[in-house]
Amino acid sequence: MNILVNDKTIAFQEGDTLIETARRAGINIPALCYAKDAVHKSSCMICAVKDCKSGQIIPSCTTKTVAEMQIDTESEEVVLTRTLSLELLLSDHRADCEAPCSLVCPFGLDVERVIHFYDSGQLADAFRLIATAFPLPELKCRDCKAPCEKACRRGTVDQPVAIRSLIEKICQKNVINDDRSDKQSPQPLSHDKTIFYSRLGQFTANEKQALKATITTESRCLHCACEGKKGCKLREYATALGVKRSRYSYSSATPAMSKQKIGDCLCFEPAKCIKCGLCVYNSDNGFAFQKRGFVMQVVLPPQNEANISRHLAELCPCGALY
Ligand code: SF4
Ligand code: SF4
Ligand code: SF4
Ligand code: FES
Repeated sequence: MNILVNDKTIAFQEGDTLIETARRAGINIPALCYAKDAVHKSSCMICAVKDCKSGQIIPSCTTKTVAEMQIDTESEEVVLTRTLSLELLLSDHRADCEAPCSLVCPFGLDVERVIHFYDSGQLADAFRLIATAFPLPELKCRDCKAPCEKACRRGTVDQPVAIRSLIEKICQKNVINDDRSDKQSPQPLSHDKTIFYSRLGQFTANEKQALKATITTESRCLHCACEGKKGCKLREYATALGVKRSRYSYSSATPAMSKQKIGDCLCFEPAKCIKCGLCVYNSDNGFAFQKRGFVMQVVLPPQNEANISRHLAELCPCGALY
């Protein structure tokens, strides 16, 4: 049994969905609310394809393959539908993939990660990261106008993190024990400006109040970078489709920035959830949908936390659950 995909004849198996048929033939179709062998329902429309016989745009993750179908997965119309769907998802998503301090450092130093190591007492790791960005003891921060401190989001809450003096402090403690074999080799890292990082979200008045009260790390750093960015499909597709930020204004229904720790190793950030439902359909009495329409949210009641297993983080297509 065959179908035509982009004018090529490919075989399919009984019970296949279009995305399974295409992927088996090596044709890649993006998907967010679909995961192989997991319970799923169409919601994101990133997997859109065109049924050439009816002229309709359909979700390939739930449409069953039927003999003689003629499917288009790559025309301008299909790509536009996917881009639009992505932009709509991003209009409801706190896409703070990168920390502003790291983005503006002229030497490409991953400032947020340096502070992360500092806050967790890993001074040697923090030092190595600094030493990779620029040679020591020629510490570039001393002469730099510190755009990182101007961009620091902590500054919108009260005072920016004193990044320069913190870096100097790390270097002073470590430079004596510097055991790098090649001290002249480090090359400045540079951020890949083509990678999607859109919003650098502003805090609401309530969020600022809550942050003042809760951030207790020595540096006072808010750790703005997304901890779930590794493997984030939302970011991958936004990068591939050239989406820089959503054309649609930010939804006021998006939940406030918060992190819910689940046991020892998982974390849930509701403001980054795209409501794909994978964690809801694949957990038994764990995650749940709350409310309906634009204000619908995915929630995890504290009494349900014990029912959550790690594999749900693998199903989550973005950095909401990691
Ligand atoms: S709060 Fe921390 S991670 Fe955020 S911009 Fe400031 S230094 Fe960077
Ligand atoms: S979930 Fe993905 S798109 Fe969202 S902030 Fe994290 S890396 Fe960026
Ligand atoms: S948290 Fe759940 S509903 Fe939200 S994006 Fe991740 S898997 Fe989907
Ligand atoms: S992957 Fe098909 S609708 Fe989301």
